[in-house]
Amino acid sequence: MSASRFVRRYGYIADMRTYEKFAAATSADIVAASFDHAQDPRLREVAQSLVRHLHAFVVDVGLTQSEWELAIDFLTRTGHLCDGERQEFILLSDVLGVSMLVDAIANETASSATDSTVLGPFHVVDSPPRSAGDSITTSQSGEPCVITGRVVSTTGEPLPGAVVDVWQADDAGFYDIQSAEVERGELRGLFTADEDGEFWFRSIVPAAYPIPHDGPVGQLLEASGRHPWRPAHIHFIAGAVGHRPLTTHIFVAGSDYLDSDAVFGVKPSLIKEFRTVTDAGTLPDGVATPVRHCHFEIVLEREEA
Ligand SMILES: [Fe+2]
Repeated sequence: MSASRFVRRYGYIADMRTYEKFAAATSADIVAASFDHAQDPRLREVAQSLVRHLHAFVVDVGLTQSEWELAIDFLTRTGHLCDGERQEFILLSDVLGVSMLVDAIANETASSATDSTVLGPFHVVDSPPRSAGDSITTSQSGEPCVITGRVVSTTGEPLPGAVVDVWQADDAGFYDIQSAEVERGELRGLFTADEDGEFWFRSIVPAAYPIPHDGPVGQLLEASGRHPWRPAHIHFIAGAVGHRPLTTHIFVAGSDYLDSDAVFGVKPSLIKEFRTVTDAGTLPDGVATPVRHCHFEIVLEREEA
């Protein structure tokens, strides 16, 4: 490429006076300007903002050469630990609160829809389809529970045919994909709401569990005096025609770590009682008592809102 074509294409680099001035006070401006020619305006906006915040951070903490090398090594090890089943970068995003912040921005409305929370790293795309009243576990251990629910719109009308994807940890805090001995689909289910928008299933009360902490994210938590635990919860993704899909959890009231979730996912409205029920008359037909019971009303917002 000729010098003149190079200057036309990469005009910012041709300004040698700019190069000479590269210093803590000017670096953000110089590097941000290098993205002035990005064709995608959103890429330009994001890259320039990232550069400005990143440079401000480096200046703020006075990052040393050895700390920079440590950070590169940390990110390299984080990447090396990622594969089809382990996503250490999502974990890093989770413990830094970025996952919940992105979720908060995406769902920042004043509507009466059910609160959302993080997806987490244990969702699979092929939960087994199940019928109303099915058990999502074949395990004989754990405290039996029944989850009843109803999917409605923000105006209160039931949403028949709504699809509810459910997954949870077992009574020891493990998901099926964390063990080679557990059959895939255990403690997962895909339910379709009936004509009244209702669904229900049998399960066991999940246990609190630590996020995977044998990698760089775990080292970061330990070095920071933070624990890796999440309070007991059941995950849901609910969707209905014409409505915004919702990704959320219900948290078991009284669980440990409700006030210190390692990934900041708890919202007060999502903490639900799992009461011990002895009167079978208050439950769907055929449920043996005593059993723990939780009801979850899922309110979805219309798409156009
Ligand atoms: Fe989870």
